[in-house]
Amino acid sequence: MQAGGFSISGLHKSYGSNEVLKGIDLSVAPGEVVCLIGPSGSGKSTLLRCVNLLETPNQGTVTVSGFDATDPEVDLNAMRRHVGMVFQQFNLFPHLSVLQNCTVAQTKVLGRPQAGAAAVARENLARVGLEGFEERYPDQLSGGQQQRVAIARALSMDPQLMLFDEPTSALDPETVGEVLSVMRRLAAAGMTMLVVTHEMGFARDVADRVVFMDGGVVVEEGPAEQIIGSPAQPRTQDFLRRVLNPTEVDL
Ligand SMILES: Nc1ncnc2c1ncn2[C@@H]1O[C@H](COP(=O)(O)OP(=O)(O)OP(=O)(O)O)[C@@H](O)[C@H]1O
Ligand SMILES: [Mg+2]
Repeated sequence: MQAGGFSISGLHKSYGSNEVLKGIDLSVAPGEVVCLIGPSGSGKSTLLRCVNLLETPNQGTVTVSGFDATDPEVDLNAMRRHVGMVFQQFNLFPHLSVLQNCTVAQTKVLGRPQAGAAAVARENLARVGLEGFEERYPDQLSGGQQQRVAIARALSMDPQLMLFDEPTSALDPETVGEVLSVMRRLAAAGMTMLVVTHEMGFARDVADRVVFMDGGVVVEEGPAEQIIGSPAQPRTQDFLRRVLNPTEVDL
């Protein structure tokens, strides 16, 4: 496989007797942007964590940027360096400045000299629209700004693939757009991306493909327009109806 993409086949993952992933096949080609949607508990985060082996699958193969991640001999640290991850909670170090948040892994994991790491960090902070924020601390930033720092931090490791797990779900509504804009720009620049999101407008505009998961299986996948606009499966139809028209329910 070319650098950048990944391929999962026959992936099973259980926690105790709870089988969370029940045989997933999913490939993302280099430069492709795929949005993963599905109800809470369907296994989306678990699937993402299996891609860079933060979780060990019980069965199946995972190939990332040419590394067979499920080969017991594989250099997992080398493989993970190719994969950037952005979570719902930004997980910035509160005691480090914005710049330091973006350099610490570069110096510790990649062994880059401080000056080089700082130059890379500044470049990526500019890329996410945060030039001039280098000396601030996370608690001096809005949620959207913190998430953009988290994206710059991931980009500073020169990933070939970016995984996003609901990157805008914890944000105030008015800061969602700035994070989506950054992601949209990344996609346009050719980054390979797998994005778990409930932002259907973003998925429709940006994703090359949308994958709908439910109950640990891929129920349906296809071009964004088709899956969001006219899904074939009743489970997908039902999910989209609820996401697109949230209504209050009796508790
Ligand atoms: N570390 C864990 N130990 C035990 N069970 C887990 C663990 N992580 C996830 N699970 C279980 O696996 C199932 C799938 O969880 P997962 O977080 O992958 O779903 P999700 O689709 O990401 O949901 P959400 O939309 O709420 O984030 C859930 O039943 C969850 O309780
Ligand atoms: Mg999740």
